[in-house]
Amino acid sequence: MQIHETAFITSMYRSYHEDISKDLYAKLWNNPKTNSLIPSILKNVSKDEAILHSLRNRFFYERVKSFFDKNDGGTFINFGSGFSMYQFQINKNVTTIEIDKKDIINYKKEKIDKWITQGKLPFRKILYTSIDFNILTEREIIKILLPLLQNKPTFILIEGVLFFLNRDTTNKLFRIFRRIQSPGDLVGSVSYLPEIETTEVYQRLLRYFNANNDVGDSFNHQTIPTSYYQNTEGYLLKEHIDEFQLSQIYTSNSAITSKSSILNENMYLLEMT
Ligand SMILES: C[S@@+](CC[C@H](N)C(=O)[O-])C[C@H]1O[C@@H](n2cnc3c(N)ncnc32)[C@H](O)[C@@H]1O
Repeated sequence: MQIHETAFITSMYRSYHEDISKDLYAKLWNNPKTNSLIPSILKNVSKDEAILHSLRNRFFYERVKSFFDKNDGGTFINFGSGFSMYQFQINKNVTTIEIDKKDIINYKKEKIDKWITQGKLPFRKILYTSIDFNILTEREIIKILLPLLQNKPTFILIEGVLFFLNRDTTNKLFRIFRRIQSPGDLVGSVSYLPEIETTEVYQRLLRYFNANNDVGDSFNHQTIPTSYYQNTEGYLLKEHIDEFQLSQIYTSNSAITSKSSILNENMYLLEMT
């Protein structure tokens, strides 16, 4: 499996539960290859993955939408944006900056431009930048991003990405966030807690990645304690919730009854002080 395939999978999960994810556009990315990979993940890793990713999307959809309802004309910056589609369901005056590896960015731009022309998507102002977070330095990334920003309120999202990065790169990204944001701006982030490492379901996930990992596309499997977010310089931790808690809010008669049997990701909302 290559990292870009995880972006297709996440998107397809969201399309399976539109009522929960609220992502009406995710299905545009569905394709036979991804469709054929998913049954084996649900069987060999965890049957709840599609619903959990939809819950994660719902959480950020609500937070991003509410931020831009109050900050019309602001900028949404999506680090490791994959095929996420929030920009089409928030205020049309918001500018979105999509950041990901080159292949994803080129493919996404081409498809989105075509779907906007065909009327399948509403017009939005979207800037695309390809950056590999592991390769470019802090200075280089800031130099690319600063000219794209216009002193408007920003919401930075880093969703489904930190698992694949190491701590040095993570620290670098949070230093970049601090350099490009202003007080009152938000960062939304997702990660696993270190406690998950001893669970059977997490071990199954690692086994799945190891067994299906293509040579040449190596990645980490980072977990992050909540204290990391509590101590992020320049930010206040405003909200912390996990997918288990989200399942109790957004799913009726939830089949999810235990935190330790699912790949329970944690969502954090930080405000720059
Ligand atoms: C699981 S996908 C999540 C995509 C999207 N944020 C979402 O939630 O739908 C992980 C994304 O992180 C991106 N990514 C991983 N490592 C990266 C790196 N070193 N530099 C830039 N992007 C990276 C991948 O290309 C991929 O699009």
